[in-house]
Amino acid sequence: MPDSASLDLRATSKVELHRHLEGSLRLRTIIDLSREAGVPLPGRTAAELAPRALLVSPVDSLEDALAGFAIAQSSIRSYDAVRRIAREAVEDLDRENVRLAELRFSPHFLCEPGGLDWDGAMDAVVAGVHEAVDAGCDVAVGLIAIFSRDYGLESARATVDFALRHHDQLVGFDIAGTEVGFPPRTYRQVLSPLLDSGLGLTAHYGESGPPDYPREAIETLGVARLGHGLTVAQDDAVRDLVVARGVVLEMCPTSNWLTGGVASVAEHPVRRLLRDGVKVTINSDDPGYMGIDLSHEWEVARTEIRFTDEDLRTVTRTAIDASFLPQHVKDRVRARHFVWLGEGR
Ligand code: HPA
Ligand code: ZN
Repeated sequence: MPDSASLDLRATSKVELHRHLEGSLRLRTIIDLSREAGVPLPGRTAAELAPRALLVSPVDSLEDALAGFAIAQSSIRSYDAVRRIAREAVEDLDRENVRLAELRFSPHFLCEPGGLDWDGAMDAVVAGVHEAVDAGCDVAVGLIAIFSRDYGLESARATVDFALRHHDQLVGFDIAGTEVGFPPRTYRQVLSPLLDSGLGLTAHYGESGPPDYPREAIETLGVARLGHGLTVAQDDAVRDLVVARGVVLEMCPTSNWLTGGVASVAEHPVRRLLRDGVKVTINSDDPGYMGIDLSHEWEVARTEIRFTDEDLRTVTRTAIDASFLPQHVKDRVRARHFVWLGEGR
């Protein structure tokens, strides 16, 4: 059947598995929070700040891209600020009809500028999400704790302890930050307490590092999902391993272009991987920082990557199945909002 471009991408209910809370700040909010906290900014208005605080054209490396988070990070100095950014992140998801979402954050990164207590920040994130939902936002939100490789093994250990302590308020655990030079085996022991915790495990690998990293993350860490997993497409054996293990890739086309992972969005391998039987999903990664949203990623998937509406159905079914949210929540949301998927899996 010819697939006419029939779906209204913004109006259609969507699923987001890979979105960073710290990458979701509105420019207006960065300005307000910085002003409240007395933090100097390189611009007074959103228009003045945008060229310095947003990543809208490709940089040379993932590390360069990560350095650009400093302006947003630096504005977060209080628990009220954490509560606000969490509330607004959910409002923004709701506004573009994302109905099932996982939001991830690094307690170390979030708490660093303001010297905040990690447990207090956790409470503030949860409060912000509840505020948005209580005000009518119709989004089922799961939270994921991140350990950032840049902070070292002691921080990794502390983040694992944090995740176990807040087990009931989280759905998963992630590893992020600089990739090259930080192979998965480094974290095998540190992560071991998480294995029986019931938390889902995902990790940013194959974003800028070689295909050996995704392979090792699967074989050594036992990840259910990979953040990006872009370089899986460079090695047939690794791709076959991903297919055989049913590992789900959280792919983020615009982010991969901006961090230099692909030369253009049109060259993104997500469609080829999908055709090869890999479970792929489409995500926004850092919508505030990158000036995008998930609807934009669907739009580029359609126009640049040549996704059909049926492909969008497939990746959405995969995302619901792969979400770390409890099954009863996924069943409820699917019945309520995802009639457009039909009965197929
Ligand atoms: N990769 C690694 N760390 C990150 C990213 C990313 O894309 N976004 C925010 N932290
Ligand atoms: Zn990410």
